[in-house]
Amino acid sequence: MELFNVYPLWDIEPVEAKGCDIIAKDGQHYTDLYGGHAVISIGHSHPTYIKIVSEQLNKLGFYSNAVQNSLQKELAKRLGKVSGYEDYNLFLCNSGAEANENALKVASFYTGKGKVLAFKKAFHGRTSGAVAATDNPKIQSQFNRGHNIVFVPLNDIQAVEKELIKGDFCAVIIEGIQGVAGIYAPETEFLQSLRSLCDKYGVVLILDEIQSGYGRTGKFFAHQHADIQADIITTAKGMANGFPIGGVLISPKIEAEFGMLGTTFGGNHLACAAAIAVLEVIENENLIENAKVIGDYLFEKLKDNRAISELRGKGLMIGMEIKPEFDGLRNRLLFEKHIFTGGAGKSVIRLLPPLCITKEIADHFIDAINDLAK
Ligand SMILES: Cc1ncc(COP(=O)(O)O)c(C=O)c1O
Repeated sequence: MELFNVYPLWDIEPVEAKGCDIIAKDGQHYTDLYGGHAVISIGHSHPTYIKIVSEQLNKLGFYSNAVQNSLQKELAKRLGKVSGYEDYNLFLCNSGAEANENALKVASFYTGKGKVLAFKKAFHGRTSGAVAATDNPKIQSQFNRGHNIVFVPLNDIQAVEKELIKGDFCAVIIEGIQGVAGIYAPETEFLQSLRSLCDKYGVVLILDEIQSGYGRTGKFFAHQHADIQADIITTAKGMANGFPIGGVLISPKIEAEFGMLGTTFGGNHLACAAAIAVLEVIENENLIENAKVIGDYLFEKLKDNRAISELRGKGLMIGMEIKPEFDGLRNRLLFEKHIFTGGAGKSVIRLLPPLCITKEIADHFIDAINDLAK
């Protein structure tokens, strides 16, 4: 059997990694400023993570959601405390798309309505409902387009109200910062007005923090920079440093009913241990503060780079709009300088490094991109 060929692959195979350093099969070292797509939050092979996950594997890797699981309860408690959403309830699943899928379902059950408002250029995942709320027809099939989704431009509050006033929406779903689109942040005032409109029209506000959350922007969730509370928050990626897990944080005003949601693997013992280890390291090593400090440093150092026409984002979620004359810069960073970065469309390079990135690693990147932009 061959693999179903859906990924354009680089001819590099990582076999070992530590912190922000990746070693490939041919022995070459690479600096990881991509974090495997914002997944490696605490750095590769962190000793605390290895200890907690391997101890759990030696005890119990999995049992189903038909029995008590104190690790889930511990994770919920710790996540509530570190995120400031202490009185919310947590549903655990296995990925970002699945978290959004469950969030949309909960909003629809709660309101008894079925329409969803999403934003142009949004990305919410590839499963049926999540991809329907993703503004990219190229990754939607006919089957996905049957959903009740309306797209409006980001930061256009009048366009939002024109839709919500119709009264048939269960939810608005919005990314804390749009990632796949190329790093576009909703304006603070827009988010605050969106919160008020959701209250006015009885619509559930879902914040997709799958890429922008877990401390990446210098607050636990990106929307917290705007000082608002969401009704539902979805999270995944950085949550367990590579172990598959997703979470849906749900306001206490929304009551659970037996059988409303469910999953076989979601919240299993190993996944919870991995997620607890991540929170332990984020807290012990002040990684949210580090994201702010190193993020600010990178913004300051990159602002005058000759190859960059615009810098967007916050903390360690950085979008660099590359001028056409420096087309191919991302590949040059990888193949000439051995630095992994993310892309978005043809002209954006995304930095989504592990939150443990040091000033020395940031300087290494700045020297490399300055050299290529000469
Ligand atoms: C904002 C956002 N939502 C949802 C997803 C989907 O997550 P997953 O690939 O874990 O299903 C992603 C993945 O890139 C994302 O960036």
